[in-house]
Amino acid sequence: MDGNGRWAARRGLPRSMGHRKGAEVVKEITRAAGELGIKYLTLYAFSTENWNRSEDEVKTLMGLLRDYLQSDLKEVQQNNVRIRFIGEREMLDADIARKMAEIEADTLRNTGMTLCIALSYGSRQEIVNAVKKTAALVKEGDISLNDVDVKLFSDMLYTKDMPDPDLVIRTSGEQRISNYLLWQIAYAEFFFTDVLWPDFNKKLLEDIIKNFNMRERRYGKA
Ligand code: FPP
Repeated sequence: MDGNGRWAARRGLPRSMGHRKGAEVVKEITRAAGELGIKYLTLYAFSTENWNRSEDEVKTLMGLLRDYLQSDLKEVQQNNVRIRFIGEREMLDADIARKMAEIEADTLRNTGMTLCIALSYGSRQEIVNAVKKTAALVKEGDISLNDVDVKLFSDMLYTKDMPDPDLVIRTSGEQRISNYLLWQIAYAEFFFTDVLWPDFNKKLLEDIIKNFNMRERRYGKA
C-alpha cells in the first residue's frame, strides 16, 4: 500500500494525512474484495523496516492501527471475515498485540474471506524464524532431516494454512518486492500501478483482476 506520503506531499499536507486517507482506502478495498469473491486478501500495513521511520510517523501509523483494530474491524467481523495477522508481534505495543490476538480468536470460525494484515512484517525474518523452528524440531528428534520438504517448511511460516498469493499488487510506481512474502510469491503474478494507494479504488481492483484473469500461468511447465 505504497504512496501515502507522496499523495499527501502533492497536496501540501503532512504525511500523516496520507496515511489517514490510506486507512480509509483499506476499508473500501476490503469491502470490495469480499464483493468480488476474493478468498484471501493480505495487506502490507507496516514492515519491520518501517520501524526506522521518524518517531512521529511510527506513532501516527500505530495510532491509525489502534483505531482500526478498535472500531473499523467490527464491520469486517460482521461480514463473516476471518482476520489474522503476520509479523513480529513482540515489537508492537502490548495493547495492540493483545487486541490482535483477541480479534484472531473471535473470527477464527468465520467462513468468509480471510483478511490478513502484515504488521511489523519482514519476509527474511519470517524465513529465518522458520529455519530456527525446523532446526529445533530436528534437534529434538521430533522429525528427521529427510522430513523437511516444501510443505513442512511452509507450515513453519506465519502464513501456515493460507494458500500462496495468486496476485501481488504494488501501488505508486515502485517495482520492488521490499521483503514481502518472498517464499510465498514463488509463482505469483505481479501488477504494478502508478496509482498512489490513497487513490486506489474498487474499479481499479476490478481492472487488475480482469488483467490477471487473461494471463496464462504455466508454473514452469511448457
Ligand atoms: C507506504 O507509503 C505505506 C505505509 C508504510 C503504511 C501503510 C498504512 C496504511 C495504508 C494505513 C494503516 C493501515 C491499516 C491496516 C489501518 P509511504 O508512506 O511509503 O508513501 P511514500 O512512498 O509516498 O512516502
